[in-house]
Amino acid sequence: MRNETQGFVVRSHRGEYGVRRMATSLALPATPGAADRLVVDAQVQRLHPSVSGLFGATPTMSVVADEKLKSLEGALSILSWLLDTDFNRGGTLYVVGGGTVQDAASFVASILHRGARWVFVPTTLLAQGDSCIGGKSSINVGGYKNQLGTFHPPAGVVIDSAFLATLAPQEIRSGIGEMLHYAVLGGDAVFTRYEAALARGWERLDTDELTALAMEAIAVKREFIEADEFDVDVRKNLNLGHTFGHGIEFASCGAVPHGVAVAYGVDLATSYAYERGLLSAAKRDRIGKAVLQLVDGSELRPLTGSQILDGIAKDKKRSGGEVELVLIEDLKKAVRVKVPLDQHLGLFLDNYLDKW
Ligand SMILES: NC(=O)c1ccc[n+]([C@@H]2O[C@H](COP(=O)([O-])OP(=O)(O)OC[C@H]3O[C@@H](n4cnc5c(N)ncnc54)[C@H](O)[C@@H]3O)[C@@H](O)[C@H]2O)c1
Ligand SMILES: [Zn+2]
Repeated sequence: MRNETQGFVVRSHRGEYGVRRMATSLALPATPGAADRLVVDAQVQRLHPSVSGLFGATPTMSVVADEKLKSLEGALSILSWLLDTDFNRGGTLYVVGGGTVQDAASFVASILHRGARWVFVPTTLLAQGDSCIGGKSSINVGGYKNQLGTFHPPAGVVIDSAFLATLAPQEIRSGIGEMLHYAVLGGDAVFTRYEAALARGWERLDTDELTALAMEAIAVKREFIEADEFDVDVRKNLNLGHTFGHGIEFASCGAVPHGVAVAYGVDLATSYAYERGLLSAAKRDRIGKAVLQLVDGSELRPLTGSQILDGIAKDKKRSGGEVELVLIEDLKKAVRVKVPLDQHLGLFLDNYLDKW
């Protein structure tokens, strides 16, 4: 049997926190503390009634996981509820949901009492395989996405495969797409396991196989966030696939799910690296083949190169007329290069779209 990781510890400026892969019922204290509070995704609470049972009489706020929750008003609603229910420094805020609930609740935890203790139980594949570690919180303001945020790591993370059983297939596909950039940055062994999982057909992966992939992805992420928690240097390599990906998301007005856009973004970054002579054709094709197990180009058909270019220009990583792209010279070997946002990039995008 494969030696799958059941957990690890992440070092952060607020101390170490554990990431444990286990049933939530085994991970939580048998009796929740009187000072604890729970913020839970309403959808998860409905589909997984055992969550309410686990938290017993713990005061609970159920929230709808939408972009409105990730706003100052949404954050204020959680904040006011915590104050109204006398949440104090002795208590832990449990957060059960995907990246949307995480972003809003962890933002609140970061400002309440100058940093409240929170524990996260991620319920989407994207949250299990990406957002649950790293400590970033982000909310939207005035139409700008993710522009307001803090670094406030959790005190613990519980990865429970049972939640994935009720996820929509598109959420699973998006989560697998998001994990592609970690597989590429993880190196040959990690990528080989990712490839093998995809070769079986992503729809066929069971919840345990999905959480195993998620654990691998966040183990890769851990190396970057421990080396550069505040995202000023090597953590920026985690943007692999994201500059092109955000361009695709923007051009499609959000119709292409984030992780799917990232998978195309990784494919674009590897094609671009190949064209610049940084990456061999064999390595580009190896990554391209994995991408093909996940997508068929249908999402890109309505889009043009100039629409994606406009989307990239709106991306927050742009500086002046240039954009910083994360490219690769090999698996695990990322380089960041500044590229002008000009007709050459537009042409490259048009040629890429033609290939589908
Ligand atoms: N903080 C970070 O580091 C970070 C990183 C990546 C993404 N994000 C943010 O995460 C958000 C996206 O999060 P997400 O992809 O996890 O999705 P999500 O939290 O928006 O959830 C997607 C949908 O799935 C539902 N859902 C959640 N768990 C479910 C389950 N187990 N079964 C059935 N339905 C379930 C939700 O109610 C929602 O309708 C974005 O806002 C993004 O900006 C944050
Ligand atoms: Zn992402």
